[in-house]
Amino acid sequence: MGEGVLIGRGSGAAAGPAEAGEPPGRRDRVAALLADAGLARRGPSLLMAGVPLAEIAEQVGTPAYVYNLDAVRERYRALDAALAGVPHRICFAVKANGNLAVLAALRDLGAGADIVSGGELARALAAGFAPERIVFSGVGKTAAELREAVRAGVGHIHVESAAELERLGAAAEDEGKRVRIGIRVNPDVTTDTHPYIATGRSGIKFGIPVDRVVEAARVALAHPGLELTTLAMHLGSQLLDPEPYVEGLERLLGLVREVRALGAPALDTLDLGGGLGIRYQDERMLDPERFAAALLPRLRESGLGVVVEPGRYLVGSAGVLLAEVLYRKHSGGKEFAVLDAGMNDLLRPSIYGAYHEVVELEARGRPPERIDLVGPVCETGDFLALDRLLPGLGPGERVAILGAGAYCFVMASNYNSRPRPPEVAVEGGRWWVARPRETVEALFRDERAAAPREGGA
Ligand SMILES: Cc1ncc(COP(=O)(O)O)c(C=O)c1O
Repeated sequence: MGEGVLIGRGSGAAAGPAEAGEPPGRRDRVAALLADAGLARRGPSLLMAGVPLAEIAEQVGTPAYVYNLDAVRERYRALDAALAGVPHRICFAVKANGNLAVLAALRDLGAGADIVSGGELARALAAGFAPERIVFSGVGKTAAELREAVRAGVGHIHVESAAELERLGAAAEDEGKRVRIGIRVNPDVTTDTHPYIATGRSGIKFGIPVDRVVEAARVALAHPGLELTTLAMHLGSQLLDPEPYVEGLERLLGLVREVRALGAPALDTLDLGGGLGIRYQDERMLDPERFAAALLPRLRESGLGVVVEPGRYLVGSAGVLLAEVLYRKHSGGKEFAVLDAGMNDLLRPSIYGAYHEVVELEARGRPPERIDLVGPVCETGDFLALDRLLPGLGPGERVAILGAGAYCFVMASNYNSRPRPPEVAVEGGRWWVARPRETVEALFRDERAAAPREGGA
Protein backbone atom coordinates (compact mmCIF):
# COMPACT_ATOMS: atom_id res chain seq x y z
CA MET A 1 0.00 0.00 0.00
CA GLY A 2 1.39 3.39 -0.97
CA GLU A 3 2.37 6.08 1.41
CA GLY A 4 -0.44 8.28 0.12
CA VAL A 5 -3.01 5.76 1.27
CA LEU A 6 -1.56 5.71 4.76
CA ILE A 7 -1.40 9.46 5.06
CA GLY A 8 -4.89 9.82 3.64
CA ARG A 9 -6.75 7.22 5.67
CA GLY A 10 -9.54 9.01 7.54
CA SER A 11 -7.41 11.97 8.46
CA GLY A 12 -8.94 15.42 8.31
CA ALA A 13 -5.46 16.78 7.68
CA ALA A 14 -5.50 15.05 4.29
CA ALA A 15 -7.75 17.74 2.89
CA GLY A 16 -5.21 20.41 3.67
CA PRO A 17 -5.78 23.63 5.62
CA ALA A 18 -9.32 25.03 5.79
CA GLU A 19 -9.82 28.00 3.49
CA ALA A 20 -11.37 31.22 4.76
CA GLY A 21 -15.01 31.21 3.63
CA GLU A 22 -15.00 27.51 2.78
CA PRO A 23 -18.55 26.15 2.91
CA PRO A 24 -19.31 24.17 6.06
CA GLY A 25 -18.85 20.46 5.60
CA ARG A 26 -16.72 20.70 2.46
CA ARG A 27 -13.49 20.06 4.28
CA ASP A 28 -14.76 16.83 5.88
CA ARG A 29 -16.30 15.74 2.61
CA VAL A 30 -13.08 16.31 0.71
CA ALA A 31 -11.10 14.48 3.41
CA ALA A 32 -13.39 11.47 3.13
CA LEU A 33 -13.26 11.46 -0.67
CA LEU A 34 -9.47 11.75 -0.68
CA ALA A 35 -9.24 8.84 1.74
CA ASP A 36 -11.56 6.74 -0.47
CA ALA A 37 -9.23 7.34 -3.40
CA GLY A 38 -5.98 6.78 -1.49
CA LEU A 39 -5.10 10.44 -2.04
CA ALA A 40 -3.31 12.64 0.46
CA ARG A 41 -1.59 16.01 0.65
CA ARG A 42 2.10 16.29 1.31
CA GLY A 43 2.37 20.00 1.94
CA PRO A 44 0.37 21.61 -0.87
CA SER A 45 0.82 18.69 -3.29
CA LEU A 46 -1.75 15.99 -3.93
CA LEU A 47 -0.34 12.46 -3.94
CA MET A 48 -1.91 9.18 -5.05
CA ALA A 49 -0.42 6.09 -3.42
CA GLY A 50 2.71 8.15 -2.78
CA VAL A 51 3.00 9.60 -6.30
CA PRO A 52 2.57 13.36 -6.82
CA LEU A 53 -0.23 13.80 -9.34
CA ALA A 54 1.51 16.94 -10.65
CA GLU A 55 4.41 14.72 -11.74
CA ILE A 56 2.04 12.57 -13.79
CA ALA A 57 0.31 15.63 -15.27
CA GLU A 58 3.70 17.12 -16.19
CA GLN A 59 4.80 13.97 -17.99
CA VAL A 60 1.62 12.75 -19.73
CA GLY A 61 -0.22 16.07 -20.02
CA THR A 62 -3.89 16.73 -19.32
CA PRO A 63 -6.63 15.63 -19.48
CA ALA A 64 -5.55 12.25 -18.08
CA TYR A 65 -7.21 9.54 -16.05
CA VAL A 66 -5.25 8.11 -13.12
CA TYR A 67 -6.26 4.95 -11.23
CA ASN A 68 -5.00 3.84 -7.83
CA LEU A 69 -4.73 0.05 -8.06
CA ASP A 70 -3.95 -0.18 -4.34
CA ALA A 71 -7.34 1.39 -3.59
CA VAL A 72 -9.06 -1.01 -6.02
CA ARG A 73 -7.46 -3.97 -4.25
CA GLU A 74 -8.47 -2.62 -0.86
CA ARG A 75 -12.12 -2.50 -1.96
CA TYR A 76 -11.98 -6.01 -3.41
CA ARG A 77 -10.51 -7.45 -0.21
CA ALA A 78 -13.12 -5.74 1.94
CA LEU A 79 -15.98 -7.21 -0.08
CA ASP A 80 -14.35 -10.63 -0.24
CA ALA A 81 -13.95 -10.64 3.55
CA ALA A 82 -17.52 -9.52 4.13
CA LEU A 83 -18.86 -12.39 2.00
CA ALA A 84 -16.57 -14.97 3.59
CA GLY A 85 -19.52 -16.68 5.29
CA VAL A 86 -20.91 -18.03 2.00
CA PRO A 87 -19.38 -19.61 -1.10
CA HIS A 88 -19.02 -16.64 -3.40
CA ARG A 89 -17.35 -15.15 -6.43
CA ILE A 90 -16.84 -11.45 -7.15
CA CYS A 91 -17.12 -10.85 -10.89
CA PHE A 92 -15.94 -7.34 -11.76
CA ALA A 93 -18.29 -5.50 -14.14
CA VAL A 94 -15.88 -4.74 -16.96
CA LYS A 95 -18.20 -2.06 -18.34
CA ALA A 96 -17.26 0.18 -15.40
CA ASN A 97 -13.57 0.27 -16.34
CA GLY A 98 -12.07 -2.04 -18.92
CA ASN A 99 -8.43 -0.97 -18.69
CA LEU A 100 -6.21 -4.06 -18.71
CA ALA A 101 -4.17 -2.83 -15.73
CA VAL A 102 -7.33 -2.63 -13.63
CA LEU A 103 -8.58 -5.99 -14.91
CA ALA A 104 -5.24 -7.69 -14.25
CA ALA A 105 -5.09 -6.35 -10.69
CA LEU A 106 -8.52 -7.81 -9.96
CA ARG A 107 -7.82 -11.07 -11.79
CA ASP A 108 -4.72 -11.57 -9.61
CA LEU A 109 -6.89 -11.31 -6.51
CA GLY A 110 -9.17 -14.09 -7.77
CA ALA A 111 -11.96 -12.01 -9.25
CA GLY A 112 -14.06 -13.15 -12.18
CA ALA A 113 -15.40 -10.82 -14.87
CA ASP A 114 -18.94 -9.73 -15.70
CA ILE A 115 -19.19 -8.81 -19.39
CA VAL A 116 -21.90 -7.52 -21.71
CA SER A 117 -20.47 -7.73 -25.24
CA GLY A 118 -18.11 -9.58 -27.53
CA GLY A 119 -15.69 -6.69 -27.09
CA GLU A 120 -15.72 -7.13 -23.32
CA LEU A 121 -15.27 -10.88 -23.76
CA ALA A 122 -12.13 -10.26 -25.83
CA ARG A 123 -10.93 -7.71 -23.26
CA ALA A 124 -11.51 -10.06 -20.31
CA LEU A 125 -9.71 -12.92 -22.08
CA ALA A 126 -6.84 -10.57 -23.01
CA ALA A 127 -6.56 -9.63 -19.34
CA GLY A 128 -6.15 -13.32 -18.49
CA PHE A 129 -9.49 -14.15 -16.89
CA ALA A 130 -10.18 -17.86 -17.10
CA PRO A 131 -13.29 -18.29 -19.32
CA GLU A 132 -15.09 -20.25 -16.61
CA ARG A 133 -14.81 -17.22 -14.33
CA ILE A 134 -16.65 -15.01 -16.81
CA VAL A 135 -20.36 -14.17 -16.57
CA PHE A 136 -22.00 -12.85 -19.75
CA SER A 137 -25.03 -10.59 -19.08
CA GLY A 138 -26.76 -8.15 -21.41
CA VAL A 139 -30.15 -7.65 -22.97
CA GLY A 140 -29.06 -7.65 -26.63
CA LYS A 141 -26.41 -10.28 -27.26
CA THR A 142 -26.11 -11.05 -30.98
CA ALA A 143 -26.07 -14.59 -32.36
CA ALA A 144 -22.37 -14.11 -33.16
CA GLU A 145 -21.62 -12.96 -29.60
CA LEU A 146 -23.47 -15.94 -28.14
CA ARG A 147 -21.58 -18.32 -30.40
CA GLU A 148 -18.25 -16.72 -29.49
CA ALA A 149 -19.05 -17.04 -25.80
CA VAL A 150 -20.04 -20.70 -26.18
CA ARG A 151 -16.87 -21.40 -28.14
CA ALA A 152 -14.71 -19.65 -25.56
CA GLY A 153 -16.26 -21.72 -22.76
CA VAL A 154 -17.64 -18.73 -20.83
CA GLY A 155 -18.66 -19.91 -17.36
CA HIS A 156 -22.20 -18.57 -17.25
CA ILE A 157 -24.34 -16.95 -19.90
CA HIS A 158 -27.34 -15.12 -18.45
CA VAL A 159 -30.34 -14.98 -20.76
CA GLU A 160 -32.74 -12.06 -20.64
CA SER A 161 -35.59 -13.24 -22.89
CA ALA A 162 -37.27 -16.39 -24.19
CA ALA A 163 -36.02 -15.57 -27.70
CA GLU A 164 -32.43 -15.30 -26.48
CA LEU A 165 -32.80 -18.64 -24.70
CA GLU A 166 -33.80 -20.24 -27.98
CA ARG A 167 -30.89 -18.62 -29.81
CA LEU A 168 -28.42 -19.73 -27.14
CA GLY A 169 -29.77 -23.28 -27.28
CA ALA A 170 -29.16 -23.29 -31.04
CA ALA A 171 -25.61 -21.96 -30.55
CA ALA A 172 -24.91 -24.70 -27.98
CA GLU A 173 -26.16 -27.36 -30.40
CA ASP A 174 -24.17 -25.94 -33.31
CA GLU A 175 -21.00 -25.93 -31.24
CA GLY A 176 -21.72 -29.32 -29.72
CA LYS A 177 -21.30 -27.96 -26.21
CA ARG A 178 -23.25 -28.00 -22.99
CA VAL A 179 -23.55 -24.43 -21.75
CA ARG A 180 -24.03 -23.33 -18.15
CA ILE A 181 -26.68 -20.64 -18.08
CA GLY A 182 -28.48 -18.32 -15.75
CA ILE A 183 -31.85 -16.64 -16.08
CA ARG A 184 -31.71 -12.93 -15.38
CA VAL A 185 -34.88 -12.17 -13.48
CA ASN A 186 -36.53 -8.78 -13.47
CA PRO A 187 -37.66 -8.91 -9.82
CA ASP A 188 -39.69 -5.70 -10.02
CA VAL A 189 -37.90 -4.00 -7.16
CA THR A 190 -37.86 -0.22 -6.91
CA THR A 191 -34.56 1.43 -6.10
CA ASP A 192 -33.66 4.96 -5.13
CA THR A 193 -31.23 5.91 -7.88
CA HIS A 194 -31.12 7.84 -11.16
CA PRO A 195 -33.86 6.43 -13.44
CA TYR A 196 -31.35 5.78 -16.24
CA ILE A 197 -29.48 3.29 -14.04
CA ALA A 198 -32.44 1.63 -12.28
CA THR A 199 -32.64 -1.80 -13.92
CA GLY A 200 -34.77 -4.01 -11.66
CA ARG A 201 -38.23 -2.48 -12.10
CA SER A 202 -41.05 -3.93 -14.12
CA GLY A 203 -41.70 -2.14 -17.41
CA ILE A 204 -38.07 -1.70 -18.42
CA LYS A 205 -36.05 -3.75 -20.88
CA PHE A 206 -33.95 -5.84 -18.50
CA GLY A 207 -34.47 -9.44 -17.39
CA ILE A 208 -37.32 -11.91 -17.61
CA PRO A 209 -40.40 -10.90 -15.58
CA VAL A 210 -41.03 -12.94 -12.43
CA ASP A 211 -44.20 -14.51 -13.83
CA ARG A 212 -42.34 -15.87 -16.88
CA VAL A 213 -39.25 -17.27 -15.16
CA VAL A 214 -40.63 -20.74 -14.45
CA GLU A 215 -41.64 -21.16 -18.09
CA ALA A 216 -38.19 -20.05 -19.26
CA ALA A 217 -36.64 -22.50 -16.78
CA ARG A 218 -38.83 -25.30 -18.16
CA VAL A 219 -37.52 -24.60 -21.68
CA ALA A 220 -33.91 -24.44 -20.47
CA LEU A 221 -34.20 -27.66 -18.46
CA ALA A 222 -35.63 -29.53 -21.46
CA HIS A 223 -32.73 -28.48 -23.71
CA PRO A 224 -29.88 -30.99 -23.89
CA GLY A 225 -27.30 -28.26 -24.60
CA LEU A 226 -28.22 -26.04 -21.64
CA GLU A 227 -27.56 -26.48 -17.95
CA LEU A 228 -29.46 -24.09 -15.69
CA THR A 229 -27.19 -23.18 -12.77
CA THR A 230 -28.16 -19.65 -11.79
CA LEU A 231 -30.96 -17.22 -11.12
CA ALA A 232 -29.68 -13.68 -11.44
CA MET A 233 -30.77 -10.08 -10.90
CA HIS A 234 -29.21 -6.66 -11.22
CA LEU A 235 -31.30 -3.99 -9.56
CA GLY A 236 -29.46 -0.88 -10.65
CA SER A 237 -26.36 1.12 -9.99
CA GLN A 238 -25.27 3.50 -7.21
CA LEU A 239 -27.59 1.87 -4.64
CA LEU A 240 -27.02 3.11 -1.11
CA ASP A 241 -29.57 1.00 0.76
CA PRO A 242 -29.37 -2.80 1.15
CA GLU A 243 -33.16 -3.16 1.46
CA PRO A 244 -33.91 -3.59 -2.28
CA TYR A 245 -31.34 -6.41 -2.40
CA VAL A 246 -33.18 -8.17 0.43
CA GLU A 247 -36.47 -7.77 -1.43
CA GLY A 248 -34.93 -9.04 -4.68
CA LEU A 249 -33.25 -11.95 -2.89
CA GLU A 250 -36.60 -13.06 -1.46
CA ARG A 251 -38.07 -13.08 -4.98
CA LEU A 252 -35.14 -15.12 -6.28
CA LEU A 253 -35.41 -17.61 -3.41
CA GLY A 254 -39.11 -18.06 -4.10
CA LEU A 255 -38.30 -18.73 -7.75
CA VAL A 256 -35.56 -21.20 -6.84
CA ARG A 257 -38.17 -23.23 -4.96
CA GLU A 258 -40.53 -23.18 -7.95
CA VAL A 259 -37.82 -24.04 -10.48
CA ARG A 260 -36.46 -26.84 -8.31
CA ALA A 261 -39.94 -28.33 -8.26
CA LEU A 262 -39.43 -28.90 -12.01
CA GLY A 263 -36.23 -30.80 -11.27
CA ALA A 264 -33.18 -28.57 -11.69
CA PRO A 265 -30.23 -30.53 -10.35
CA ALA A 266 -27.58 -27.97 -11.32
CA LEU A 267 -29.34 -24.88 -9.95
CA ASP A 268 -26.93 -23.93 -7.17
CA THR A 269 -26.13 -20.22 -7.58
CA LEU A 270 -27.73 -16.82 -7.08
CA ASP A 271 -26.23 -13.82 -8.84
CA LEU A 272 -27.16 -10.63 -7.01
CA GLY A 273 -25.68 -8.32 -9.66
CA GLY A 274 -23.73 -5.18 -8.91
CA GLY A 275 -24.90 -1.79 -7.79
CA LEU A 276 -23.11 -1.04 -4.51
CA GLY A 277 -23.09 2.73 -4.27
CA ILE A 278 -20.12 4.90 -3.42
CA ARG A 279 -19.50 8.39 -2.05
CA TYR A 280 -19.37 11.15 -4.66
CA GLN A 281 -20.52 13.95 -2.37
CA ASP A 282 -22.06 13.32 1.04
CA GLU A 283 -23.59 9.89 0.46
CA ARG A 284 -23.13 7.08 2.94
CA MET A 285 -21.70 4.41 0.70
CA LEU A 286 -23.17 0.92 0.73
CA ASP A 287 -20.16 -0.68 2.34
CA PRO A 288 -19.60 -4.43 2.19
CA GLU A 289 -20.34 -4.93 5.89
CA ARG A 290 -23.81 -3.40 5.62
CA PHE A 291 -24.46 -5.28 2.40
CA ALA A 292 -23.38 -8.60 3.87
CA ALA A 293 -25.18 -8.08 7.19
CA ALA A 294 -28.47 -7.61 5.34
CA LEU A 295 -28.08 -10.59 3.02
CA LEU A 296 -25.85 -13.22 4.57
CA PRO A 297 -28.31 -14.80 7.01
CA ARG A 298 -30.78 -15.72 4.22
CA LEU A 299 -28.00 -16.68 1.83
CA ARG A 300 -26.37 -18.99 4.36
CA GLU A 301 -29.69 -20.62 5.10
CA SER A 302 -30.31 -21.21 1.38
CA GLY A 303 -27.12 -23.21 0.91
CA LEU A 304 -26.67 -21.57 -2.52
CA GLY A 305 -23.47 -20.08 -3.86
CA VAL A 306 -23.40 -16.35 -4.53
CA VAL A 307 -22.05 -14.26 -7.38
CA VAL A 308 -21.85 -10.48 -7.16
CA GLU A 309 -20.97 -8.19 -10.06
CA PRO A 310 -19.73 -4.90 -8.63
CA GLY A 311 -18.24 -2.30 -10.95
CA ARG A 312 -18.52 1.17 -9.44
CA TYR A 313 -17.82 -0.03 -5.88
CA LEU A 314 -14.46 -1.54 -6.86
CA VAL A 315 -13.08 1.21 -9.07
CA GLY A 316 -15.23 4.36 -8.89
CA SER A 317 -13.50 6.08 -5.99
CA ALA A 318 -10.03 4.93 -7.08
CA GLY A 319 -9.85 7.10 -10.21
CA VAL A 320 -9.35 10.80 -10.88
CA LEU A 321 -9.40 12.87 -14.04
CA LEU A 322 -6.61 15.44 -14.16
CA ALA A 323 -7.40 18.63 -16.02
CA GLU A 324 -5.90 22.09 -16.50
CA VAL A 325 -7.58 25.46 -16.49
CA LEU A 326 -7.22 26.98 -19.95
CA TYR A 327 -9.04 30.26 -19.41
CA ARG A 328 -11.01 32.25 -16.88
CA LYS A 329 -14.13 34.09 -18.04
CA HIS A 330 -16.73 36.33 -16.51
CA SER A 331 -20.10 36.30 -18.27
CA GLY A 332 -23.67 37.21 -17.26
CA GLY A 333 -22.58 37.83 -13.68
CA LYS A 334 -20.98 34.39 -13.42
CA GLU A 335 -17.44 33.11 -13.13
CA PHE A 336 -16.22 30.34 -15.42
CA ALA A 337 -13.07 28.28 -15.61
CA VAL A 338 -12.70 26.62 -19.01
CA LEU A 339 -10.86 23.32 -18.58
CA ASP A 340 -9.03 21.22 -21.13
CA ALA A 341 -11.30 18.28 -20.18
CA GLY A 342 -14.86 18.17 -21.44
CA MET A 343 -17.97 16.07 -21.79
CA ASN A 344 -16.28 13.84 -24.36
CA ASP A 345 -13.74 12.89 -21.65
CA LEU A 346 -16.16 12.69 -18.70
CA LEU A 347 -19.83 12.43 -19.64
CA ARG A 348 -21.50 11.71 -16.30
CA PRO A 349 -22.19 15.33 -15.29
CA SER A 350 -23.80 16.02 -18.68
CA ILE A 351 -26.02 12.94 -18.91
CA TYR A 352 -26.88 12.22 -15.27
CA GLY A 353 -26.27 15.61 -13.68
CA ALA A 354 -23.67 13.68 -11.69
CA TYR A 355 -21.65 15.40 -8.97
CA HIS A 356 -17.86 14.98 -8.98
CA GLU A 357 -15.83 16.77 -6.34
CA VAL A 358 -12.94 18.87 -7.65
CA VAL A 359 -9.69 19.57 -5.81
CA GLU A 360 -6.51 21.42 -6.72
CA LEU A 361 -3.36 19.46 -7.50
CA GLU A 362 -1.34 22.14 -5.73
CA ALA A 363 -3.27 23.84 -2.92
CA ARG A 364 -2.58 27.56 -3.02
CA GLY A 365 -4.67 28.63 -0.07
CA ARG A 366 -6.82 31.04 -2.08
CA PRO A 367 -10.27 31.89 -0.75
CA PRO A 368 -13.20 30.11 -2.38
CA GLU A 369 -15.30 31.65 -5.12
CA ARG A 370 -18.50 30.54 -6.81
CA ILE A 371 -17.68 29.15 -10.21
CA ASP A 372 -18.71 26.84 -13.08
CA LEU A 373 -16.07 24.44 -14.41
CA VAL A 374 -16.84 23.88 -18.08
CA GLY A 375 -15.17 22.06 -20.96
CA PRO A 376 -14.09 23.13 -24.44
CA VAL A 377 -16.82 21.19 -26.31
CA CYS A 378 -19.42 23.13 -28.31
CA GLU A 379 -22.42 22.31 -26.11
CA THR A 380 -23.85 24.30 -23.22
CA GLY A 381 -24.30 20.90 -21.58
CA ASP A 382 -20.52 20.49 -21.55
CA PHE A 383 -19.75 21.04 -17.89
CA LEU A 384 -17.90 19.17 -15.16
CA ALA A 385 -19.02 21.10 -12.09
CA LEU A 386 -21.66 23.79 -11.80
CA ASP A 387 -22.12 26.52 -9.24
CA ARG A 388 -19.38 25.31 -6.91
CA LEU A 389 -17.55 27.11 -4.15
CA LEU A 390 -13.95 26.25 -4.99
CA PRO A 391 -10.61 27.81 -4.12
CA GLY A 392 -9.77 30.40 -6.79
CA LEU A 393 -8.28 28.75 -9.87
CA GLY A 394 -6.02 30.52 -12.36
CA PRO A 395 -5.12 29.63 -15.94
CA GLY A 396 -2.45 26.92 -16.13
CA GLU A 397 -3.43 25.51 -12.74
CA ARG A 398 -4.52 21.89 -12.49
CA VAL A 399 -7.32 20.08 -10.76
CA ALA A 400 -8.24 16.49 -9.99
CA ILE A 401 -11.85 15.54 -10.63
CA LEU A 402 -12.63 12.82 -8.09
CA GLY A 403 -14.74 9.68 -8.34
CA ALA A 404 -13.65 9.16 -11.95
CA GLY A 405 -12.71 5.48 -11.89
CA ALA A 406 -16.05 3.99 -13.03
CA TYR A 407 -18.20 4.80 -16.08
CA CYS A 408 -15.88 7.63 -17.05
CA PHE A 409 -13.10 6.73 -19.49
CA VAL A 410 -15.28 3.91 -20.84
CA MET A 411 -17.87 6.49 -21.89
CA ALA A 412 -15.30 8.86 -23.43
CA SER A 413 -15.87 9.73 -27.08
CA ASN A 414 -14.16 11.58 -29.89
CA TYR A 415 -16.86 14.25 -30.09
CA ASN A 416 -15.43 17.46 -31.55
CA SER A 417 -12.61 15.23 -32.91
CA ARG A 418 -10.96 15.20 -29.53
CA PRO A 419 -8.59 12.25 -28.90
CA ARG A 420 -9.44 10.26 -25.81
CA PRO A 421 -7.20 10.90 -22.79
CA PRO A 422 -4.54 8.51 -21.51
CA GLU A 423 -5.07 6.17 -18.57
CA VAL A 424 -2.36 5.94 -15.92
CA ALA A 425 -2.07 3.23 -13.29
CA VAL A 426 -0.53 3.90 -9.87
CA GLU A 427 0.45 1.38 -7.23
CA GLY A 428 2.86 1.29 -4.30
CA GLY A 429 4.60 4.55 -5.13
CA ARG A 430 5.12 3.89 -8.88
CA TRP A 431 3.11 4.66 -11.97
CA TRP A 432 2.90 3.81 -15.65
CA VAL A 433 0.86 4.75 -18.71
CA ALA A 434 -1.63 1.91 -18.98
CA ARG A 435 -3.10 3.34 -22.19
CA PRO A 436 -1.54 6.21 -24.10
CA ARG A 437 -3.38 9.30 -25.24
CA GLU A 438 -5.15 8.64 -28.52
CA THR A 439 -3.48 10.39 -31.46
CA VAL A 440 -5.21 12.82 -33.80
CA GLU A 441 -4.14 10.64 -36.77
CA ALA A 442 -5.93 7.65 -35.24
CA LEU A 443 -9.19 9.61 -35.32
CA PHE A 444 -9.56 9.36 -39.12
CA ARG A 445 -6.87 6.89 -40.20
CA ASP A 446 -9.45 4.26 -41.24
CA GLU A 447 -11.88 6.60 -42.98
CA ARG A 448 -12.33 6.68 -46.78
CA ALA A 449 -13.31 10.02 -48.30
CA ALA A 450 -14.43 8.53 -51.64
CA ALA A 451 -15.84 5.26 -53.01
CA PRO A 452 -13.20 2.80 -54.12
CA ARG A 453 -12.58 3.04 -57.88
CA GLU A 454 -13.53 -0.54 -58.84
CA GLY A 455 -16.66 -1.50 -56.90
CA GLY A 456 -15.87 -3.49 -53.77
CA ALA A 457 -16.49 -2.54 -50.16
C1 LIG B 1 -25.77 -6.92 -15.24
C2 LIG B 1 -24.93 -5.91 -14.54
N1 LIG B 1 -24.11 -6.32 -13.57
C3 LIG B 1 -23.31 -5.44 -12.91
C4 LIG B 1 -23.32 -4.10 -13.20
C5 LIG B 1 -22.41 -3.19 -12.45
O1 LIG B 1 -23.07 -2.23 -11.72
P1 LIG B 1 -22.29 -1.33 -10.68
O2 LIG B 1 -21.17 -0.69 -11.40
O3 LIG B 1 -23.29 -0.35 -10.20
O4 LIG B 1 -21.82 -2.22 -9.59
C6 LIG B 1 -24.19 -3.62 -14.21
C7 LIG B 1 -24.23 -2.20 -14.51
O5 LIG B 1 -24.95 -1.71 -15.33
C8 LIG B 1 -25.00 -4.56 -14.90
O6 LIG B 1 -25.83 -4.16 -15.87
